[in-house]
Amino acid sequence: MTFLLKTFAFTPCDREIGSATECTPSELRQKFGNKSALVIGGTKGIGSGIALQLAESGCREIDIVGRDAVAGSKIVEKMKETQHLLKLRGETSLQSSGGKDLRCDFTYADLSTVQGCKELVESLGEVNQYDIVVMSVGVWPDFRNPLTPSGFHKVLFLDVVARYILLRELYHKGKLSNTSERASVVDKPVVMSVLASGQKISSSYESVKELFLRKASNSYREDLMIPRTLSAVGLSHDSMLYKASSEYPDVTFIGTFPGLVATDVTASTFGHLFAKIANFIAKLLRVMITPRECGLNHVNILASDKVKLRGLTFWDHYLQARELHEKIKETEFVEWNWSVLEKIGSDEPTC
Ligand SMILES: NC(=O)c1ccc[n+]([C@@H]2O[C@H](COP(=O)([O-])OP(=O)(O)OC[C@H]3O[C@@H](n4cnc5c(N)ncnc54)[C@H](OP(=O)(O)O)[C@@H]3O)[C@@H](O)[C@H]2O)c1
Repeated sequence: MTFLLKTFAFTPCDREIGSATECTPSELRQKFGNKSALVIGGTKGIGSGIALQLAESGCREIDIVGRDAVAGSKIVEKMKETQHLLKLRGETSLQSSGGKDLRCDFTYADLSTVQGCKELVESLGEVNQYDIVVMSVGVWPDFRNPLTPSGFHKVLFLDVVARYILLRELYHKGKLSNTSERASVVDKPVVMSVLASGQKISSSYESVKELFLRKASNSYREDLMIPRTLSAVGLSHDSMLYKASSEYPDVTFIGTFPGLVATDVTASTFGHLFAKIANFIAKLLRVMITPRECGLNHVNILASDKVKLRGLTFWDHYLQARELHEKIKETEFVEWNWSVLEKIGSDEPTC
């Protein structure tokens, strides 16, 4: 399975970057002990696994974002318990956090509108600045309710448009910043976007354009082409990150493919019961990892010095860096994709 995935699903290994090593818990605490993190999509699934692992690694401040306040509070409670235990065991030093108290909070946001994305950044408070921003907000095609309130394809909006707007707003409002008081591993602020980066892309530029321009009446029929939709969204997303890395050179960007992770992400397509049964079987067959395992992989990638070697690197769930696919770099497409995002982000037109 691993051989098949590595050979046929991913772009070649990025030999210049290599692979990230697995750190010990105390190495992770040394690297993250004074960091602040924002996890957008941290209430559930992969984002919650990353948030919990960041807490375990001693992050000083962690904000998680989503719509589900109950799920969000549970993750916050777990993070607080973890931080409390670390303190009791003397494994987190307030010295490394500049004497500041550890803090974690849940913030509500519905990111399916331009306004919702902008309001989130406003609501994060004047003082909050983040060394690490993780974006794992997303859904699979939602058959019952496929479009956002403005008529955009929901997967495209949450996976690409919302992430673009959040990135832009966070950057321009000065929230992406290295808050560390001492030099350490993550020198520049880091944005990690979890989707499907580093994969061979089967989609065409035309499919992405169609998806952006799709009329509401066609959306249900086209959602049946799930692989085509996801691949087009992946191409647009990776191209957005590629352009972002040149627009914001003082930020380090990471795109990941998280592996197959037992979460409810497919519930929007197949229903909750199906998703739970499929996850259970896949875990038995060991083709899926848990959100916590996935969280640890992502934190190991964040901890690696190798992410700083370039403005943008792509990583798989085996902690190997992957080359950027040629398709995401084609100038005409990159500029078109970015300009559409700029337009949507500026005035929220309907399709
Ligand atoms: N799981 C996998 O195997 C896998 C594999 C490859 C790629 N991915 C991609 O990775 C991303 C995360 O997947 P996952 O498995 O972690 O999914 P998940 O368990 O469904 O979690 C998605 C997160 O996004 C948030 N979210 C969804 N819609 C939102 C909205 N309108 N506004 C604000 N927050 C919203 C959810 O929070 P609330 O419910 O609280 O709003 C939740 O925290 C997705 O883009 C997915 O396609 C997943």
